[in-house]
Amino acid sequence: MTNPRGLYQLIVFLLGLMTMGKLAAAQPVYMQPKQRVEARVADLLGRMTLDEKIGQITQVDRDAIAGKVADIKSLGIGSVLSGGGQYPHPNTAAAWADMIDAFQRSALASRLKIPLIYGVDAVHGHGALMGAVIFPHNIGLGAANDEALVRRIGRVTALETKATGVHWDFAPMIGLPQDYRWGRTYEGYGEKTDLVARLGAAYLQGLQTVDGHGLEHPWTVLGTPKHYIGDGAARWGTSPFGSNHIDRGEAKFSEDELRKVYLPPYRAAVTNGARSIMVSFSSWGGLKMHEQRYLLTDVLKAELGFTGFLVSDWGALDELKGSSIDKVSKAMNAGLDMIMVPTKYQDFIYDLKAAIKSEMIPQGRIDDAVRRILRVKFELGLFERPLTDRSAQAKIGMQAHRDLAAEAAGKSLVVLKNSNATLPLDRKAASIYVAGKAADNLGMQCGGWTLEWQGTDGNHRPGTTILAALKGAVSAPTKLEFSADGNFNGKEKAAIGIAVVGEMPYAEWHGDRADLNLSDADKQLIRRLRERSVKLLVVLISGRPLVVSDEVALADAFVAAWLPGSEAQGVTDVLFGKRPFQGRLPYTWPRSMKYFERIDRGEPQTAETVLFPYGFQGQVAR
Ligand code: BGC
Ligand code: BGC
Repeated sequence: MTNPRGLYQLIVFLLGLMTMGKLAAAQPVYMQPKQRVEARVADLLGRMTLDEKIGQITQVDRDAIAGKVADIKSLGIGSVLSGGGQYPHPNTAAAWADMIDAFQRSALASRLKIPLIYGVDAVHGHGALMGAVIFPHNIGLGAANDEALVRRIGRVTALETKATGVHWDFAPMIGLPQDYRWGRTYEGYGEKTDLVARLGAAYLQGLQTVDGHGLEHPWTVLGTPKHYIGDGAARWGTSPFGSNHIDRGEAKFSEDELRKVYLPPYRAAVTNGARSIMVSFSSWGGLKMHEQRYLLTDVLKAELGFTGFLVSDWGALDELKGSSIDKVSKAMNAGLDMIMVPTKYQDFIYDLKAAIKSEMIPQGRIDDAVRRILRVKFELGLFERPLTDRSAQAKIGMQAHRDLAAEAAGKSLVVLKNSNATLPLDRKAASIYVAGKAADNLGMQCGGWTLEWQGTDGNHRPGTTILAALKGAVSAPTKLEFSADGNFNGKEKAAIGIAVVGEMPYAEWHGDRADLNLSDADKQLIRRLRERSVKLLVVLISGRPLVVSDEVALADAFVAAWLPGSEAQGVTDVLFGKRPFQGRLPYTWPRSMKYFERIDRGEPQTAETVLFPYGFQGQVAR
């Protein structure tokens, strides 16, 4: 080293290398996967403008943003959802991923590149996706009462959902429906706290864990226990939809009941990793849950130690009293963290900003809300994996998933009556008549929240109808005939008649019914089939107990099949004895309509009021 100029150049070069290395390491802390989540949250929050914070709090509806994808970037929108029946066209896994990735690219083009989180109501499988496997609605899983089964269903639902790009599932519903006139009775696992707490926690574990890994695992989705709290405790006639409704109504429970009956499932959910919880549309003591600071902040966040985020229900702020600025202030101050606006997001953003500027919402509350949302986004690995991994799309609707749905459908069946050794059915019977609109109707089998918000009538998706499964189950010489309206007049009596009857699909308040009698058409059909069959089995497809006292008396055997989903071979496997019946009633079954109003927790249940008690299981010899 005799040349000083050469030495000087070498030093400059080495210094340059060091600075470059430093620059590379100077990725912001929040972008470094190895940093602790809380450090990443604090770093990111410290960089955000008020507008960017407001964006994170805003959840918009897919249909509202679809034509204005650039708004996600410019407004820094933090979340988009598909409401019931909001799917891309064509409704394929690839189109879902394209749709969500397009939204995500807009979010990633924003200044701080904060990924958005996309949510759907996958309440019994990825219901909105054509071709996804559809599991029994929760009422059936409550009848099966099998935590391991529910965990496996959560696992498959997470996989089929995540494969389409969705990160977030608004499930499980862990309310305790107390009045079966409610159109959401089937979304509940049952009427008892312990049952709901156990199965809700199991489902959450299924969604949020894979092989001992948590949300950081790529094939998990974020679950959302809902609707906090007392959604099933509303009283008939108190609904905003009118005196002939119950949905979103006034819940009636004491502080003691709150803690003993309705809160334990949330406690179990928090213990088992709940990171987002949806607030109920209902009210308590004349105040909407969305403005109950005591319940949201004091009980759920402080007492139960919930450190995830609270999301509002669909447009629920609109139902609060006051100006639009009052509404958002009440909700945020009560403890809401993300608002499912869902459509008029420009107005919402304006109102939220005005409320903050005029100090109606403290800055600290906004920071807390955003901190909670970001925390979960980091936990989910969204910053590392914002775009869809399409490698599991071929698994959607695969045989193993269908087998699981079939197993669940079979395990959910409850025998209400079995006389004359009707069950298990004889697969060598000479002749079988099958009747009823629900026999050949995947839409009825699946119920609400399937393809469309309200479900569909007919066979519009892949799956196996009860009729198809029956045909597959009987032996070759058996003559099986089907008539939707049960018209077998002039024909000989069949050895076995099977009436498959029940409710048309519905969701939310569309399913509120003052009258839970079986329809006249179904009643007549059952009577006609009685005449034409030696042994009569009635299979009831319904989202709740209905008034069936006369029909139970008339039939030789009666099975409650609830809303079994897309794979009815699971139903026939059990009807024909290939697998055992094991379901028990998750809801008390009232005898007549007047007791549907009275069957209430704590009220004496007598033979006069109750047709079948909670936990009932009819006997079938094997
Ligand atoms: C329902 C929620 C659902 C949301 C989004 C609301 O009307 O009450 O259960 O998650 O819509 O579809
Ligand atoms: C949406 C549902 C939502 C309902 C509530 C519908 O338009 O599709 O997801 O639950 O509105 O009002």
